[in-house]
Order: sequence, then C-alpha cells, then structure tokens
Amino acid sequence: MFSNRTSWSSVPNALTVALQQRRQKSLPVLDLTQSNPTTALPPMPWSAIQEAMVRPENATYVPDSLGLLSARQAVAWHHSNRVSPERVLLTASTSEAYAFLFKLLCDPGSEILVPTPSYPLFDYLAGLESVRSRQYPSHFVDGRWVIDYQVLIDTWTPACRAVLIVTPNNPTGAAVSRQDTDFLSKFCAERQIALISDEVFADTIVLGAGPECFDNIGFTGEHRCLNFVLSGLSKVMLLPQLKCAWVLCQGPPAMARAAMERLEIIADTYLSVATPVQNALPTLLQMVPEVQAVLKQRLDANSLIIKEELSDSAVRMWPAQGGWSTLVRVPAVLDHDDEFALQLLEIDGILVQPGHYFDMPGQGWLVVSRLGPPAELRQGMRKLVQRVQQLVGA
Ligand SMILES: Cc1ncc(COP(=O)(O)O)c(C=O)c1O
Repeated sequence: MFSNRTSWSSVPNALTVALQQRRQKSLPVLDLTQSNPTTALPPMPWSAIQEAMVRPENATYVPDSLGLLSARQAVAWHHSNRVSPERVLLTASTSEAYAFLFKLLCDPGSEILVPTPSYPLFDYLAGLESVRSRQYPSHFVDGRWVIDYQVLIDTWTPACRAVLIVTPNNPTGAAVSRQDTDFLSKFCAERQIALISDEVFADTIVLGAGPECFDNIGFTGEHRCLNFVLSGLSKVMLLPQLKCAWVLCQGPPAMARAAMERLEIIADTYLSVATPVQNALPTLLQMVPEVQAVLKQRLDANSLIIKEELSDSAVRMWPAQGGWSTLVRVPAVLDHDDEFALQLLEIDGILVQPGHYFDMPGQGWLVVSRLGPPAELRQGMRKLVQRVQQLVGA
C-alpha cells in the first residue's frame, strides 16, 4: 500500500526511549541538545515581530510563485544586493528549498553528493525525492576540517546532479575556505552539475577564527557554476515558526534564467509561503543585527563555559568557525558513543547527541548545543567531565 521510500523503521533508538522514560518519571534532564531558539534563548523583540506581521495588505491574496517582489527585494538587500530580486525564490523552509531543488535537478535514481560529517536530514530529503545521496568526507587535519577533494572526485558518477555543502557546517562548525569555493565551483562547472550551499548559519561565522585568517563567507556572488545559496528565517531571525526561507539562484546567466523559469513552476504548484510573513520580511530582515547580537552573546558565553569546564580534563573541545553546536571529543571510554550517551543520560541525567547521528568518523564524539541556558550547560559539562574521569580512572 505504501511507497518503498517511506518504509522507515518506527522503532525509537535506546536514547530516545531512555529520555521518554526519564521524562515520564519526572526525573531532571540537563538538555545539552537544545536547538529550538524560541525556547532556548531569551525572548526576542516579539511585539515588533508581531507588529510587522499584522498589515492591511495581508487581507488580499496576490499570489506570486517566486514570492512577493517586496519580500524578494528584502532578501536581496539582506545579501548586500549581491543578488538580483529576480534570482530569489521564497520557500516555507530550507528543507522545502532542498525538495524544490531536487525536483529541479534530479530524476528518480539521480545522485547527489553530500558532505559528511553533516546534517542528518539529507538522506530523508533526498530519499523523499527518490534521489540517492553519496557522501564525500571532510577530515580534521592540523586544527581544521578539510574537504577530501580526491574522494569527491572519485565518488562522482554521471548520475550525479548536484554537490551539497553546508557552511558553516552542522555540527562541525567548519566554514568553506576560498580554496574550497574555487574547487567546488570548478568541479561543478566542469561536470555541468549544480552546487547547493546551505548557509543558514552564515551569520554566526567568526571572521579570523581558526588557525588561518578566515576571510570567506560562502557562495553569494559566485557565478562560475549554477549554484543555489539557501538560508531562512529559522536561523537568521531565530523564527522557525514563521516558515519562510529563500534560495539565491546564481551562475552563468542563461543557466540561472532557465533554472528560475523551472523553479517558478515548481513553486507555483505549491504556493507555500504565507502572505503575512512575506509582507513582514522587509521589516524582519532589518532586525537581523539585533537578533543575531543576542544569539552571539549566548553562543560566545557558552563557548567560554565549555572551554572553562573542559580545561585540564581528558575531554577536548573541537575548534569551529561558526554554527550553534560544539563538538567535544571524549577518550574512547566505552566501545560506542551511543552507549556513552545512554550512560550519561541514565546515570547523570545529561542529554547529548552521539557523534554518529552526524556520521562523525570513529568513536568518542559528542555534539553539544551552545544555544541553551548557560547555567544548564555548565552543570552538564561539569558532570560530563566527572563521568569521563571516573570511567578513565576505572
Ligand atoms: C544545516 C541546516 N540546514 C537547514 C536546517 C533547517 O532549516 P529550516 O528550518 O529552514 O528547514 C537546519 C536545521 O537545523 C540545519 O542544521
């Protein structure tokens, strides 16, 4: 009765079961996985946001498949007018943007190249469009994550239609270097395939961070190959509930024009972005610096806490250039990160994500969110260090 591509396992993993049980027993949880900005962070300027959403124009439905021109102009402005509003498409979320782009670029059975370690939703997004994802890795070398160009070259097949990149990446926080943008643009141009750059965390990039002066913030303004830059309100304005994201379509003019013509029809089939958020976008995007400043304060404070709590311990904090998470490396105290994460929850009440959720290579990786309340993070990190010390001692 159902499609093969929706034959997912419905069995929850051990960590999910343990969490449910803990919550049922009303036992405390130090949640170091918080990624919902609307509950993790101090209240945003909500009355101004609401005011922007209540406008007389909302009473009239004027459908525009790409999104209202005023909203697309606001997105272009947000990207320093390095893109024309004609090359902007609004979607309800970045996830929907991926779905539209896979419909545009792929046939059933086509392949896409996805980075690893990275965001675990790609397999689902690709699978739902009957597209196969093939992974290309980054390795941690001399203090930074380096894309394995050779594996990328070797993994490519003629069935491949796009290369995905996430910059800064989730969960590593690694951002593409100029060398990466040059390589990826050339790689895609030579093979006549598209590049999809997920830049939802771009505002969190710390310029100059890392072992070398970091001076590159992604693919906006890139035209050597057909490429799409993705972002949206969920990470830029910390408002996932508003359901508004966007795609910048760039590249050789004839290719970009043809892509937009097709995307317009795909988007017209759904018309999924609500009018109030489109009308609010020009006001909302002007508020980005204020909102990002609150976020930055939280991320910086939490980075410092992780650093302080892990100093002189056997647990290491991994360097990153941006993003909302931090990777920590624990000595391989148990055979599997899953077992360790389960122990942390059952014994200490600490919830963290094991690295394998993000396909981290090898064991000993935990992903800690820096979005949640600092006091909870400090307590969680302190207990984590104590647990590791006990296990290492034992
Ligand atoms: C790299 C990355 N892209 C996209 C998203 C989802 O964005 P949206 O809420 O716009 O679908 C996430 C969510 O965590 C993410 O980590």
